[in-house]
Amino acid sequence: MCGIMGYIGKNDAKQVILNGLAKQEYRGYDSAGLALRCGESIKSVKIVGRVSELKKLVEESDLGETAPVSGIGHTRWATHGGVTVTNAHPHESVDGNIVLLHNGIIENAREIRDKLEAEGIVFISDTDTESACQLLARLYRDCGDVLSAMTKLCASITGAFALVILFRDRPGEIWCARRGSPLVVAHSDGASLCASDPTALLDYTHDLFFMEEGEIARLTEDGCGFFGFDGEPREKQSIFLQWDSVMADKGHYEHFMRKEIDEQPDVLRFTIEAHTDITSVDMEKTLKLPPDLMRGISRVQFVACGTSYYAAAVACNLMESLDDTLNVRADVSSEYRYRNIGRGDDTLAIFISQSGETADTLSAARIAKSKGVHCIAITNVRGSTLDREVDNSLLSLAGPEIGVAATKTFTAQVALLSILVLQLLKLRGALSATDEARLIGGLRSIPAKQQAVLSRENDIKALAEKYSDSKGFFFIGRRESVPLTLEGALKLKEIAYLPSEAYAAGEMKHGPIAMLDEKLTVVAIVPQNDLREKMLSNVAECRARNAPIILLATDGDEGIKSFANDVIFAPATEKELFPLLGVVPLQLFAYHVAKTLGRDIDMPRNLAKSVTVE
Ligand code: F6R
Repeated sequence: MCGIMGYIGKNDAKQVILNGLAKQEYRGYDSAGLALRCGESIKSVKIVGRVSELKKLVEESDLGETAPVSGIGHTRWATHGGVTVTNAHPHESVDGNIVLLHNGIIENAREIRDKLEAEGIVFISDTDTESACQLLARLYRDCGDVLSAMTKLCASITGAFALVILFRDRPGEIWCARRGSPLVVAHSDGASLCASDPTALLDYTHDLFFMEEGEIARLTEDGCGFFGFDGEPREKQSIFLQWDSVMADKGHYEHFMRKEIDEQPDVLRFTIEAHTDITSVDMEKTLKLPPDLMRGISRVQFVACGTSYYAAAVACNLMESLDDTLNVRADVSSEYRYRNIGRGDDTLAIFISQSGETADTLSAARIAKSKGVHCIAITNVRGSTLDREVDNSLLSLAGPEIGVAATKTFTAQVALLSILVLQLLKLRGALSATDEARLIGGLRSIPAKQQAVLSRENDIKALAEKYSDSKGFFFIGRRESVPLTLEGALKLKEIAYLPSEAYAAGEMKHGPIAMLDEKLTVVAIVPQNDLREKMLSNVAECRARNAPIILLATDGDEGIKSFANDVIFAPATEKELFPLLGVVPLQLFAYHVAKTLGRDIDMPRNLAKSVTVE
């Protein structure tokens, strides 16, 4: 959480920083600030609000005659300390020599603060960040050397941090440090930059240095130097990120989320074509597992958070349905650590994270690695921490996702996971040629079917408008549709702020049905398969309690209309692949409900795109 941008070069630093912050605003947006070196002095501007308001205030502020050539900026998602101007970053040390901003949580902040306050240092904010700022100033005063003050600081603070710092008496430098929170650094054309998210740097270069755990960087106009937390210099290779900066642009769309929903057929085509041929899986180049590894595996664990966890649940169902000799489960990352996950050679764990920076998923992967479990990662961001830390890392090819609510990355993950499951089972000798051809053929047909659903947007929009005054929603489904109910409900919660629950349909009678009345809408997922009749019984039970019913059903199933107030139709698919298609109308429904209610769709309240704290 929180977006960071730093720049040192010959151009106007404030424009570069404001642009970079605007691109990373989805990471946190309760307050924002920047500090610019204006001649001899460093001037800070901070606000409670969005980057657009910061921009206005910066334009109105007197920053002197010449354009600043270095500076640092921050957009905040509050953890310690309320949302106030004083708590917004950057923070300044009491001696005025250090201006610092931070993403993460400093766990021993209270202890540091108590010690420094006992020495007479007066704190002005309630943040954990200020303790790092005041401590660094003290360490620098004591030793007079930046690198050694930085190494001492990093050794003294616990928790997660990406720190970016200006020293008043070192005009040609910006210093950074990273442990736990992401930070990317780049040098291009007489300028050095840093940011939390690579998309903020793509206007300048695609050659990026992803800072590792325990690294310090010194940025100047001439280049970037790297050191370990022990102060020793480090050689670092840049990584070329293929993303295009226009991919992170809204184009003619009103919201990134809507654009990203539309991108799904293309994203799926890339993903499927990269890993399959017409009738079979082909991951030999991308998945580097010893050929007989899968034969010795008895447990497979899919581990992720939020929407990525629902993708994990889809993959878990698929694998279990095709191989009854494996013990397969899906876990949320934050709970994985409390489980007896097994040890060693017979376990394979697959970690899924769009950002590759989710703190809980990173911790889960580290625990699995430390127990000798075989690990695979799926992430959407090349160079992200998960991508670098897990040897066998696969990229979902969704391109940058900016809307806070995940859409195209979910379908990209589900597609890639489905192909991975087929590949793993094939290596294990547990995939029949018939199932392989059937499912690959089915996958290849999904993009066109998604397109068909997208072309029915107006019908879904009309339903969203009709039901947007519901007091809440229940999503119900069975088997492969259960993860979809969870995802449909989560989308509505996060962007429309409406109470929405998800249930395996059979569970309704065990309690939740008590809540139903004419203002609570039930969205029932009833594709035309072997579970249709059972689902319709559950739907009838809800209808008998006066709940309005929307069905998600299969094209041509006209008979289903009599069970519902309204029906959204989608093309038929292989039953295991239905989540890839069924999620699209649910995304559109949530989007249009949120739009009808006037919500801030791309930056919903209280959320941030990348959850880098546990
Ligand atoms: C919901 C959403 C979140 C993320 C979750 C995990 O729309 O975006 O639930 O799925 O925070 O994020 P990643 O996939 O980056 O680990």
